[in-house]
Amino acid sequence: MTYDPISRTFLDFFRERGHELVSDGSLIPPPGDPVLFTTSGMHPLTPYLEGRPHPLGRRLVNVQRCLRTTDLDEVGDCTHLTLFRMLGSWSLGDYDLPRSLRWGYELLRDGFGIDHDRMHVTVFGGDEQVGPDEPSLRTWNELGLPVELTGAENWWSNGPTGPCGPDTEIFVWTGDGPPLGTPGTDSRWMEVWNHVGMRHHRHPDGRLSPLRQPNVDTGMGLERLEMVLGGHRSVFEGAGLVPWVRGVSGGWGLRDGSLRLVADHLRASVVVIGDGVRPSNTGRGYVLRRLLRRALTTLWRDDASRTLSDLPTGAVRHTLDGFGQSGTVDEVRDVFSGEERRFRELLRRGRPVVSRRRSRGPLTDEDYRDLHDTHGLPRDLVDGLLAEVS
Ligand code: SER
Repeated sequence: MTYDPISRTFLDFFRERGHELVSDGSLIPPPGDPVLFTTSGMHPLTPYLEGRPHPLGRRLVNVQRCLRTTDLDEVGDCTHLTLFRMLGSWSLGDYDLPRSLRWGYELLRDGFGIDHDRMHVTVFGGDEQVGPDEPSLRTWNELGLPVELTGAENWWSNGPTGPCGPDTEIFVWTGDGPPLGTPGTDSRWMEVWNHVGMRHHRHPDGRLSPLRQPNVDTGMGLERLEMVLGGHRSVFEGAGLVPWVRGVSGGWGLRDGSLRLVADHLRASVVVIGDGVRPSNTGRGYVLRRLLRRALTTLWRDDASRTLSDLPTGAVRHTLDGFGQSGTVDEVRDVFSGEERRFRELLRRGRPVVSRRRSRGPLTDEDYRDLHDTHGLPRDLVDGLLAEVS
């Protein structure tokens, strides 16, 4: 794995402070893990956050590829990506959250040159189970950064149960002119780095108990940091996205939100395929299928003759190389073309069926079940066809 200059600065900073490098794992969690894809740098470290000793020690750092489908509806804007790289650092029961915040501030200001005045933070203000995060509040006050106190937005967990805790998020001003408002009132404050005081375990009944050790888990979106440091207006101006933006706008003439969505989804699909997933009707394969179908739906919105055979192959190569994947452009092209064929065929068969069903009145749950079981039409696809026919 080769690292870009931003990642190297991040890794060196933490290595100089005693952190050992954990290598970038695949998007596929180990067998037995119920989660479909790695969604954060901490995810592969869960057993160690829960107290198992890590072979590399108690201070760790890495750059982890992550896939998040929870933000899918926001993809198309300027700051959300389905696939991104997370710069992460961890204290496994070693130093505390204020130590991490001071290092974080030092790295952003002195290592990356981000002005003090362009930073704003949010801190957990407490709820009925856990009090306010006083140590973080005190630390940020001492460092002189403006703080906004919030509730649930500053509580981090990777799912309904497991390790969790209050987090404090660092935002950077991305607007022209001097900063205005707070992260809660002005979306030009972009979250870049999240520091979690991971010291609780959530049980299935909602109860919290202390973890065996208090940890710190931090994660910063590399593409967002790149946007800030490059003075860009969007993450799509970053080195990993530019070949996609060029290819998608040049090849298919897409613009703005459609361009960003297709660039994002195709890039994410390439990495998912590179990590060994193939389209299917369940699990990981279905996530891949949905990404490709969303991209195709967007491509065909104003020109149904567009085809993934015109895929920007330079961008595919660039992405496979960037993520150190051994797959080939031809393999990716085969998967894309196969999916495109299947999807065209499904739409051709599905359109008249949905339209007939619709003419009898609004669809019931039973209709959806039947369309799925008898005609192989998933609910989201039926909804798309309904929007076309009504
Ligand atoms: N787990 C936190 C996040 O994903 C910090 O790494 O934001």
